[in-house]
Amino acid sequence: MTEAPDLSTTAGKIADLRSRYQEAVVDAEKAAQQKQHAKGKLTARERIDLLVDAGSFVELDEYVRHRTTAFGMDKSRPYGDSVVTGVATIHGRTVAVYAQDFSTFGGSLGEVAGDKIIKVMEFALRNGIPVVGMLDSGGARIQEGVVALGKYGEIFRLNTQASGVIPQISIIMGPAAGGAVYSPALTDFVVMVDKTSQMFVTGPDVIKTVTGEDVGMEELGGAHTHNTRSGVAHYLAEDEDDAIDYVRTLLGFLPDNNMSELPVYETEFEFETTDADRALNHVVPDSPNQPYDIHHVIRGIVDAEDFLEVQPLFAPNIVIGFGRIEGRSVGIIANQPSQMAGTLNIEAGEKASRFVRFCDAFSIPIVTLVDVPGYLPGTDQEWTGVIRRGAKLLYAYAEATVPLVTVILRKAYGGAYIVMGSKQLGADINLAWPTAEIAVMGGQGAVNILYRGEIKRAEEAGEDVAAVRTRLANEYTYNVASPFLAAERGELDGIIEPAQTRVAIAKALRALRGKRASLPPKKHGNIPL
Ligand code: HXC
Repeated sequence: MTEAPDLSTTAGKIADLRSRYQEAVVDAEKAAQQKQHAKGKLTARERIDLLVDAGSFVELDEYVRHRTTAFGMDKSRPYGDSVVTGVATIHGRTVAVYAQDFSTFGGSLGEVAGDKIIKVMEFALRNGIPVVGMLDSGGARIQEGVVALGKYGEIFRLNTQASGVIPQISIIMGPAAGGAVYSPALTDFVVMVDKTSQMFVTGPDVIKTVTGEDVGMEELGGAHTHNTRSGVAHYLAEDEDDAIDYVRTLLGFLPDNNMSELPVYETEFEFETTDADRALNHVVPDSPNQPYDIHHVIRGIVDAEDFLEVQPLFAPNIVIGFGRIEGRSVGIIANQPSQMAGTLNIEAGEKASRFVRFCDAFSIPIVTLVDVPGYLPGTDQEWTGVIRRGAKLLYAYAEATVPLVTVILRKAYGGAYIVMGSKQLGADINLAWPTAEIAVMGGQGAVNILYRGEIKRAEEAGEDVAAVRTRLANEYTYNVASPFLAAERGELDGIIEPAQTRVAIAKALRALRGKRASLPPKKHGNIPL
């Protein structure tokens, strides 16, 4: 047995600190490792170590202990409670971090665990640094009742106050159950680890009791479900390492806060047309109905073909993500012709709107690449609110004050033309490829309305109606949908060869670096939700 230190001496006090640190951090970590590793999961401190620059983590509140006495809780008062919090650097830039510790009271959130999270979030907000939360928790601590619920309320309020001020990122690495899911939901990006993370408001047992529906935990709220079906998550990580890598890369694109400059990376930008640029001249197929993969174009315009896609598995008919041009972050929004022909639907609209608003809040210029035949038609879309929910994207673009550069590659029809970063919604530089088609509707649809009589006559005369239709549609596309008509009216600022796109966008963004724009004073707008 080690002798109790003599607390009347300085040496004794230091020895006492060391022994408490041993208990609070070193021994607690060993115990946590045993429990977590048995489940194939890392501990809170191991996760933080992976996330941050080596040796940079400064832990806060490791001596905090709960004060609950109910249910015999006073017999177990582990130091640090159920969450590890602190400040560190990632790629040399300061971030605030918290990681819930499932090995202590199931990572559940009571008064003091809540206070630790609140303290580190307030620190982040006050100092203008991003906050990354790693969640692995049974939710509100049952023994602490309303006090635990109240702490969630405070966290939600802080999440909301921090929204648009500092980037907030959540990595779900275990359960996130009940109302606890709403803290990550309020953050900017949610990363989920495949097979070991779940998010749900009511779990399988409650669902079975209330509705009789049988559903497993993974199907209900696993990483796959939230990445493909619900759109709650932004990245499906194959394991914890992958999740953490993604977040480190993501942070590299983001500023520290809404008032700070974007990170700028050293780069040698090539202003001459390259072979890779010339390859873009062959991307758009001759047939208007033939799809192509928009990723070729995106990779062709960002530095080093380096594109970090966000929400790749949800609404893949629109592609969003971050790249750099001349070493500076840009947000890219692009229709994807290889998925549902690039049509806009509710999911795509909501996915893109949130991204536009994120970029706008943090002054990240937006590049929009347009190839959209229109909105997806159907009762399903109308009845689930394509009017209300589709309006979000219009709203998001129209209120955005960051530099907006739009390039129309091929189709830009009807309302979808307007919504995808059109000049009229406030875009600064609008360009088009010569393959662009801009009109109220596509050739086939227009022919049905404009040339009804002519088609009837062709039918009666026994002519090849399909051939007549194609001829008329082509004439319409050439005469009405030509990008030169839009350029004549100044609705496009220029028409460029695809091979010129990379350099043209870079020059546009250079010209827009000093952009200043503001909205009329208001408390806040009323985006259709
Ligand atoms: C206190 C909890 C706890 C909780 C888990 N534990 N959740 N303690 N409050 N909410 C404890 C367990 O008692 C156990 O303690 C240890 O953590 C590990 O839990 P297990 O159940 O053994 O782990 P596992 O089998 O992996 O199951 C994980 C789980 C399950 C699915 C999360 O624990 C669970 O269903 N917990 C309750 C989830 C829930 O309904 N929470 C409230 C949601 S409402 P011992 O001592 O045995 O190791 C909510 C409201 C938020 O959060 C407020 C918003 C307004």
